[in-house]
Amino acid sequence: MNFDTIPRSDLPALLRRMPKAELHLHIEGSLEPELIFRLAQRNGVALAYPSVEALRAAYAFSDLQSFLDIYYAGASVLLEEADFFDMAWAYFERAAADNVVHAELFFDPQTHTARGVPMAFVVRGLHHACQRAHAEFGISSRLILCFLRHLSEEEAFATLEAALPYRQHFIGVGLDSSERGHPPEKFARVFARARELGFECVAHAGEEGPAAYIETALDVLQVRRIDHGVRCTESPALVERLARERVPLTVCPLSNVKLCVFDHLSQHNLPALLAAGLCVTVNSDDPAYFGGYVNQNFVELFAALPQLGAQEAWQLAANSFEASFVDDAQRARWRLALDEAFRAAGA
Ligand code: ADE
Ligand code: ZN
Repeated sequence: MNFDTIPRSDLPALLRRMPKAELHLHIEGSLEPELIFRLAQRNGVALAYPSVEALRAAYAFSDLQSFLDIYYAGASVLLEEADFFDMAWAYFERAAADNVVHAELFFDPQTHTARGVPMAFVVRGLHHACQRAHAEFGISSRLILCFLRHLSEEEAFATLEAALPYRQHFIGVGLDSSERGHPPEKFARVFARARELGFECVAHAGEEGPAAYIETALDVLQVRRIDHGVRCTESPALVERLARERVPLTVCPLSNVKLCVFDHLSQHNLPALLAAGLCVTVNSDDPAYFGGYVNQNFVELFAALPQLGAQEAWQLAANSFEASFVDDAQRARWRLALDEAFRAAGA
């Protein structure tokens, strides 16, 4: 394929049109303020903000923790199975519009079970939305249960245990929430148990935390993908390893700027990671809070970084399929569709 034949002015449309997989999306982070208010009213939950506008105006974050505080408050409106369905369905409508053909969704059960919401409501509501997204949009999806790393490993074990009756509805476990001071090795035993049970394992590492957390996520938790991982560049040896082992990094550009990991998209290290041969993907993390869904991430990133062109667009979409937890036959079908989109654009 010749990528040089695609003019730069065609890039935004191509980025939007190309098929892609989204692999780093917290479903609770897709709760738009309008839906938060609708669910608060439906469930009789009091909010600390008087209006949608006032809530949105509070979305000015100085670091990960300042975001998490407001993110957990937003999730407090989720009480019934239908609420989880409605939240995920709203995401899938956006994903379909962005030509997402496959999505792997994180969910944080502890945020809900701590408020007395049954695990069954959480998993079943999300699962039904996944089923309907496949039926109506042809989007395939998987659920990944995340442990909150600011809580104890014992609580993570209890969460895994409580979720096992629904194990057919989720394919893996992840690790999210406050990174600093909560290294991956704190969860060594529960990840070992999850691996024994046959779950895929991923972990947030190297978002705010040091490169060493990426190493222990790989060596101790034995994860298959690293979520974020952008601080790997602090260790050239680690970058070399990630490239050699093709460990995917699910990078979230708008999130990184909103949470002050980078000052501006033009300073993002994604081009350097790609150039180093890493399997980097572009994702939205918590799109309702960070200014956009996956296509917005692609379009703004490419606008800010002139070194990213059609070849990199193709590579990022191809990486998203390579890094997905699906079988090779499915991966090959998506690759054909991706090539077709680029040929139709003149490549
Ligand atoms: N939970 C939701 N979004 C997160 C992020 N960006 N980092 C860690 N935990 C999260
Ligand atoms: Zn995340």
